[in-house]
This record gives sequence, C-alpha cells and structure tokens, in this order.
Amino acid sequence: MTEAAKSTSPLCEAREVSKLFSARAGLRAGGGRARYVRAVDRASIVIGHGEAVGLVGESGCGKSTLGRLLIRLEAPTAGNILFDGKDITHLKGGALRLKRREMQMIFQDPASSLNPRFSVYSTLSEAIRVHSKRLSARLLNAHIAALLNMVGLPLSALDRHPREFSGGERQRIAIARALAVEPRFIVADEPVTSLDLTSQAQITSLLTNLQRELNVAILVITHNMELVHHICKRVAVMYLGRIVETAPTEILFKKPAHPYTRALLASTLSQDPDDRLKARVLPGEPPSPLDPPKGCHFHPRCPHAQMQCKLIVPQARECSSNHFTMCHFDFDEERESTARAAPTAPKDGDSQM
Ligand SMILES: Nc1ncnc2c1ncn2[C@@H]1O[C@H](COP(=O)(O)OP(=O)(O)OP(=O)(O)O)[C@@H](O)[C@H]1O
Ligand code: SF4
Ligand SMILES: [Mg+2]
Repeated sequence: MTEAAKSTSPLCEAREVSKLFSARAGLRAGGGRARYVRAVDRASIVIGHGEAVGLVGESGCGKSTLGRLLIRLEAPTAGNILFDGKDITHLKGGALRLKRREMQMIFQDPASSLNPRFSVYSTLSEAIRVHSKRLSARLLNAHIAALLNMVGLPLSALDRHPREFSGGERQRIAIARALAVEPRFIVADEPVTSLDLTSQAQITSLLTNLQRELNVAILVITHNMELVHHICKRVAVMYLGRIVETAPTEILFKKPAHPYTRALLASTLSQDPDDRLKARVLPGEPPSPLDPPKGCHFHPRCPHAQMQCKLIVPQARECSSNHFTMCHFDFDEERESTARAAPTAPKDGDSQM
C-alpha cells in the first residue's frame, strides 16, 4: 500500500466481524449438540486516527468482546480486523506482539489489572521493557517520570504498591502503563465504572485531556453517557452483537434514529448516574445471544416492529451525514409512532447465519 493510501485509511476497523463462543455445558440443549454464544454478530466499526469513539449498549451486548477483537486479544470467528489499512485478522506470534505495541487496553478494575507485587516503578518499567527496545537507565527513568507527570502522580509514588493507592490513583497508574508504549489506539473498557463520583470526574477529565494532547485514538466502552459526552466525537450503539447506530455524539443525543437508541437514551436520562444503562431499557428480557431472534434482533422489544422486521436483517444505511442506522424505517420526528418508508429490500445472505 502506498503512503498516500495509508494515510487515508482509518486507524482501526472491524469489517463484518463475528465472534462465537462455545456455550458452557449447562447451557447446551438438544441432546448435547454444541451451541454457541453469538457475542458479536457481523459488526462493523471504524475508528479514525486520533479519534475518540464511544461504544454503548446494555450489559452483555458484546461491547467488551468487540473491543478485544479490535486489538486482537481475541481472534474473530468471521470478518476482518484492519489496523492502519493492514489486515491483522490472522496475525500471530511475534508479528501480533509487535503490532500490539501500538494498541493498549485500560480495564474497569485497576485493582485486578495491576500486579499487586509490582511497585509503580516496576509496573511502568516492565511495560516499557516488554514493548520497547532497551533504554539506558537515565532514559528509562526520564520516561517514567514523564508518565507520572502526565497522569498527575508524584514521583514519590514510584516505590509504592497498588494496595497503597486509592481507586482513582490506581486507575492513573493503569493509564500511565497503557501510555508507556506510546500507543496509537487504546480501548478503555469501563474506565471509570469502579470509581467513586469524584474519581470518575477526575479520570474522565484526565482521559479527555490526554486523548487530545497525545492525539491517540480511543474506543471508550461504557454505560456512562457523561463520559461519552465528554470525550467522544462519535458514538456507536450496540444491541445483541450488532452495531445498530453510529453518529456524531451531538447528533446521536439530539436525534437518535434507531428505536433501540431512543429507548436507551430515554432510560439513561431517567436513571441514577451510578447505574445507567444497566437498567432494563424496555419491557421484556433482552433475547439470549445463544438464540438471537431472526431478522432485526430488536424486533421482539421494538414498538414499531412489522412483519419484515421479523424476517429481514436491516442493512446499515446513512440517514443523515455520517449518521448510520440499522433499521428498516425512518421515523417522523413529531410522531414517533408513525413509521414511514420501507427502503430495505431482502438480499441474499440477509437471513440469520
Ligand atoms: N469467553 C467467553 N466465553 C463464553 N461466552 C462469553 C465469553 N466472553 C463473553 N461471552 C458472552 O458474550 C456475550 C457478550 O459479552 P461481553 O462481555 O462482550 O458483553 P458486554 O457488552 O461487554 O457486557 P457488560 O456491559 O456487562 O460488560 C455475553 O453473553 C457473554 O456472556
Ligand atoms: S427494523 Fe423494525 S424491529 Fe428493528 S428497530 Fe427498525 S422498526 Fe424496530
Ligand atoms: Mg464489558
């Protein structure tokens, strides 16, 4: 690929990616026939260079799995993962480790993601050592001091261990560790969920500033819409393994197109901020990823569902500039209940796999 072509590629992309997990024995049915949890179902998402994208949706819809697929901590069952225009779907061994230097993950619970036996110095020097060429002691120490400064921790933190810090401080250490290798892409999976409200605000502000200063691309997986609003320029909404809507953040909040997004936002705005989106957003159980509904996955809970929704998988289509929805219909803004137009024709392969 030429340099020119490379620079126009998104930084990270999932194309029609699926991930099936083999179901536990207790979940098997049909006389022991192997069954699979369809955690991600032909999902496509694009993250540009230096772009901050949010990924939201109810618990269990596949957000973490998609995040792990994007940085190839998991291998997809089908579809492709591209990084900087190169297909990394089947990368293995040393080549994959080399690529991972450019991608990092920040987890929900820094207490369990940090090694309790490692001091902050050991944690950061180990991260640098695993991913980079050997540095002289002087350069290594300067790099570590700069990282601490970036995340707002004093040099006196270096000799201390994770148990000696608060949750917010531990998340700062985890962020410093992720930044240690100067990644181009970070997946932050519920980075503030385990923190108290004050720490949530501080870490949100830290991540926002760092993302902008360092121009690192970030996928923020969260139930917290304030975090999305603060950091992300664009948001993707996931339902039962599929990306059902993507839009610039302001547009998504003001004019959500997909019935699921509308329900999700309505629920979010009425819930306690500590537990947002974890509440059931609509009557009825979310269907099981072991046996997802045919057609539009959302049809059993959708107030607008019609016959074709039960039979045909909607295609993602652009309903306004850079705003995509995976619904057969457009909805009249004034009278939401009135669905009009049915532009999606059945296509080969649209039925469930
Ligand atoms: N390793 C695994 N083996 C079997 N099933 C799995 C595995 N990882 C995830 N799943 C299943 O895949 C589905 C998606 O899980 P995932 O953790 O990606 O959801 P999530 O959207 O991140 O949920 P949450 O918001 O609760 O973190 C769930 O049904 C989950 O039980
Ligand atoms: S395709 Fe049908 S069931 Fe699915 S969200 Fe749109 S109206 Fe509802
Ligand atoms: Mg998760």
